Amino acid sequence: MEKGSHSSSTTLARTKSDQLVETLAAAFKSARQSDQQTPPGTSESGGTLSRKSSKRVMMGASPRRSSGENNNTYIRKSRSAQMKLDLEELSSGAALSRASSASLGLSFSFTGFTVPPDEIADSKPFSDDDIPEDVEARTCKMKFQTEPTLPIYLKFTDVTYKVIIKGMTSCEERDILNGITGAVNPGEVLALMGPSGSGKTTLLNLLGGRLIQSTVGGSITYNDQPYSKFLKSRIGFVTQDDVLFPHLTVEETLMYAARLRLPKVLTRQQKEKRAVDVIYELGLESNMICRCQDTMIGGSFVRGVSGGERKRVCIGNEIIINPSLLFLDEPTSGLDSTTALRTIQTLQDIAEVGKTVITTIHQPSSRLFHKFDKLILLGKGSLLYFGKASEAIVYFSSIGCSPLIAMNPAEFLLDLANGNLTDISVPSELEDKVQMENSETETGNGKPPPAVVHEYLVEAYESRVADTEKKKLMAPLPLDDELKSKVSSSKRQWGASWWQQYCILFCRGIKERKHDYFSWLRITQVLSTAIILGLLWWQSDSKTIRGRQDQAGLLFFIAVFWGFFPVFTAIFTFPQERAMLGKERAADMYRLSAYFLARTTSDLPLDLILPVLFLLVVYFMAGLRLSASHFFLSMLTVFLCIVAAQGLGLAIGATLMDLKRATTLASVTVMTFMLAGGYFVKKVPVFISWIRYMSFNYHTYKLLLKVQYQDIMPTVNGIKTDSGLKEVGALVAMIFGYRFLAYLSLRKMQLHCEA
Ligand SMILES: Nc1ncnc2c1ncn2[C@@H]1O[C@H](COP(=O)(O)OP(=O)(O)OP(=O)(O)O)[C@@H](O)[C@H]1O
Ligand SMILES: [Mg+2]
Repeated sequence: MEKGSHSSSTTLARTKSDQLVETLAAAFKSARQSDQQTPPGTSESGGTLSRKSSKRVMMGASPRRSSGENNNTYIRKSRSAQMKLDLEELSSGAALSRASSASLGLSFSFTGFTVPPDEIADSKPFSDDDIPEDVEARTCKMKFQTEPTLPIYLKFTDVTYKVIIKGMTSCEERDILNGITGAVNPGEVLALMGPSGSGKTTLLNLLGGRLIQSTVGGSITYNDQPYSKFLKSRIGFVTQDDVLFPHLTVEETLMYAARLRLPKVLTRQQKEKRAVDVIYELGLESNMICRCQDTMIGGSFVRGVSGGERKRVCIGNEIIINPSLLFLDEPTSGLDSTTALRTIQTLQDIAEVGKTVITTIHQPSSRLFHKFDKLILLGKGSLLYFGKASEAIVYFSSIGCSPLIAMNPAEFLLDLANGNLTDISVPSELEDKVQMENSETETGNGKPPPAVVHEYLVEAYESRVADTEKKKLMAPLPLDDELKSKVSSSKRQWGASWWQQYCILFCRGIKERKHDYFSWLRITQVLSTAIILGLLWWQSDSKTIRGRQDQAGLLFFIAVFWGFFPVFTAIFTFPQERAMLGKERAADMYRLSAYFLARTTSDLPLDLILPVLFLLVVYFMAGLRLSASHFFLSMLTVFLCIVAAQGLGLAIGATLMDLKRATTLASVTVMTFMLAGGYFVKKVPVFISWIRYMSFNYHTYKLLLKVQYQDIMPTVNGIKTDSGLKEVGALVAMIFGYRFLAYLSLRKMQLHCEA
């Protein structure tokens, strides 16, 4: 009984869907025909045109539109036509102005931010060519998008990607992407959609040149040229995870990005102005409601700006360079639908001025979905649809999958990509399989299993559309040679000279870490240790042998404490900044050498303040030799020890790039150095005695003894107090040697990422 009623409802639904298919298929055909009339790659076939035709399908053709006009006017006209309808309803220019501002969201572009609403309302009556929105948009874009960008046409054919998963005994190959084909032109927004794990991020990384490995197949071209290093400075890439410095404010983050990334031809003031423009463009300015611009970004341990604001800062970080190609991985995840709409509106505005935008997206609202020009739908790494976003529903209807109830198109597409046909018509080709399944299992729900649906969709796309699309993409782009040769140049473009990069990174490092360093916890830790030492060795006696032996214990402890402490602080340096370094180096923001030097020297002033405090307390409480030269030489010795120990920490961190492994190795090394330091054991077997020369504790201890007792006696506590030059030489060699090792390890890691 139940089965009978079910099948009758399915038939009814199918009849409805068949009617819908016929209507939609007719529309689809006519849209395709109109599309084929335009040659690919010309500016006419660019994003703007695609947006035109998409609007045509979505809203129905408008008799007002003429094909001879230029692209931008055309879009504006289509908007103005919509607005005119509103105008009739609202019958007031001011109301319209406010309504359009409110609905379009972003404060910079279309609201009264640049042009007050009253002025708009008072301006001359609307004509198709001069609507307030256009006036505002033009003004604002003039403000932000100053230089023209190199247009980049991105094409990708049969892109495949495999990963090799190494098990305990065997290696397994796993296909992540299977033959993805598509193209996106300047002026267009391409959306990548698909269920979680379908390969969106992987595809985005491949297209953005972030995954260059031997397991990548197919071709990806930019203006018909392969990826080159030049593109690094023309690509903006917003990653799925927000990678930002938590202690910098929104303004500082964007200012540093502007100073590092914008071309050298701009002055510092121009660069900073650009950063301010971006802040306004993304609605991140401080106002009566929030002081976003001056708020710290924040992170897991520090409260900062909201998730949505953080995402916008990430977008700002990339659009600040006026990129030709902008990639975004889930820019709207975690945002409310209005903010998401604003963000996508920004992307559309960016695309409209000739940039190519590619974004992955999870759950767009229907309004948001209609803002995309092109769409790629992925399912388990395979292509289920590539084409105009507005034609996706028509295409799926033409293969027998139509929504049976009113549904958000994005929801419908994601259901399909997941193989879930609930409230979606079942294609006739799959019906037999459904019936077979129903007879096999008693729990059959009248829908084919997801794997079968997936297979059907992949086959349908391959047999109906894939070949035509591939042929279209095979045709070379009618671009002039200059555009092609620019893209293929392997010359990198740095935004600042080496010295400027160093200075900017140095200041940024100090700003980012001053909070860490001046934490009361750390100061208390050092000062309390110093006070306890001072009390234990209170006014110790250096005149007797016993007294000197006691003091030697204190000096050895100082050598160990200031050897141990910096190693464990420095270990975190590179592993903690790995994500940031990877992101910024992938965008060619600075040279590795400038970063390395800035990173290692920006810590120094702060690292040397605490030992000064420590020594001031211990030295005078313990009653060590009271003379300026003895005090300053002891201080210098401790400094040498700290810088050498830091070098070791940096080298271990940069080589292993893994905190757990790094701390384990560091604790073994530091312990070995401490034991070989010459205090605990004096008679060391020859075959192991060399180890002490590698120990900075040993050299520091010897130097401290020499400073205190050289003019009193030649040997203290079994250690000779000779000239001390060897020790100084050894510490200096360690300072540079360990750092060089750390630099080589970082470079190797970078090369590994780029290879
Ligand atoms: N290096 C890798 N090693 C193993 N598996 C990988 C690797 N890279 C990607 N994958 C797998 O490939 C699939 C696609 O990953 P990807 O991150 O591209 O998915 P996604 O569509 O972006 O998902 P989400 O929407 O959740 O972000 C996942 O199943 C992932 O586990
Ligand atoms: Mg992803």
